[in-house]
Amino acid sequence: MVSPSKLEQDAEAFLRLFHAEEGRAERLVPRLGEVCEEIRETGTYTHTEEELAFGARVAWRNSSRCIGRLYWRSLRVRDRRGAATARELADECVEHLTEASGTGRVRPIITVFAPDRPGKPGPRIWNDQLIRYAGYRERDGRVVGDPANVRITETARALGWTGGAGTPFDVLPLVVEAPGEPVQCFDLPGEAVLEVPLTHPGLPWFAELGLRWHAVPAIAGMDLEIGGITYPAAPFNGWYMGTEIGARNLGDQGRYDQIPVVAERMGLDTSSEATLWRDRALVELNVAVLHSFREAGVSITDHHTESRRFLLHLEREEGAGRACPADWSWIVPPLSGSATPVFHRYYDEADLRPAFLPRPGPRATLPPSRTPASHPVVVPSRVTRSCHVSRV
Ligand code: ARG
Repeated sequence: MVSPSKLEQDAEAFLRLFHAEEGRAERLVPRLGEVCEEIRETGTYTHTEEELAFGARVAWRNSSRCIGRLYWRSLRVRDRRGAATARELADECVEHLTEASGTGRVRPIITVFAPDRPGKPGPRIWNDQLIRYAGYRERDGRVVGDPANVRITETARALGWTGGAGTPFDVLPLVVEAPGEPVQCFDLPGEAVLEVPLTHPGLPWFAELGLRWHAVPAIAGMDLEIGGITYPAAPFNGWYMGTEIGARNLGDQGRYDQIPVVAERMGLDTSSEATLWRDRALVELNVAVLHSFREAGVSITDHHTESRRFLLHLEREEGAGRACPADWSWIVPPLSGSATPVFHRYYDEADLRPAFLPRPGPRATLPPSRTPASHPVVVPSRVTRSCHVSRV
């Protein structure tokens, strides 16, 4: 919690931005008065629905790691600050996912739950995304499923989750912590999880690999900070850029590690790095992702198109007289970087607010009695390179 004076400053900076950008300059002074009074009386203040929606959209606009910010204004904001119980939270997340995926046309949405208040923390979702595949560590150390999610899988199991069938693509339950209730797991109903089985337009055997991915990337493990107020549960989604799945989730050695598998099925010469077998397999993996999503009628974008859109976004922001912070190392796609225009320039870096912030401290920590002794449940300090509302 920030101190009242710091909170007043942060609130004022935000309210100035809101009233200026939304053309409500004449309302600024009375609103500042109201907010200061509320802070003095209660130690915090309450955003109006309009402020909340604007704050969430600007937090996306300020996400320097996100290549997909051109559409920041279109973010649909679901104000669910009134949802109190873990059950209500889970139901709202299901509703969010259902709306976001629709029949395949993915829509950017954020659902904002209650903020932290003095002496009354808001709810938290322990998963780093609403949809994630379980990772089961076997006795020999190998992982079935997504190695990135071993800890949250163990946490869910320690909480009594028995739902996973043990396949490489078991959808994890939501792990929800609401004030005054024990942490609980909620299985996502199948209808809320749109998935795409992967095939390749020219390699018939590709389908036999049994690969798939979900349609909606929905980040749940970041705080939304607006005007000094922290919303610790504010899951948000965009649509995928193919490389997030084809290059990183399925390609990374620490994830599904499919490059050697694909290379072998392609019959590539893997005896020397210089044959570029990795690169060739990686391209086909990415072709499969884009092809499969398109065929299934599920929104997805490719890194060439998205790079151009990002530069258009930069231009528009500059035109509007705003700084547009960007982190080169996250903006440049993990495949064919130099073949995209975002590679060939530098960007301004700045830490602007409102913002999505990595959650401070360990995300998935169980009380000691519930933590399986051999597997301390902590979360890695660095999330996978990729972007909020475009790629963790
Ligand atoms: N990179 C993350 C993933 O592969 C998703 C991060 C958000 N991405 C997005 N396109 N909105 O699951």
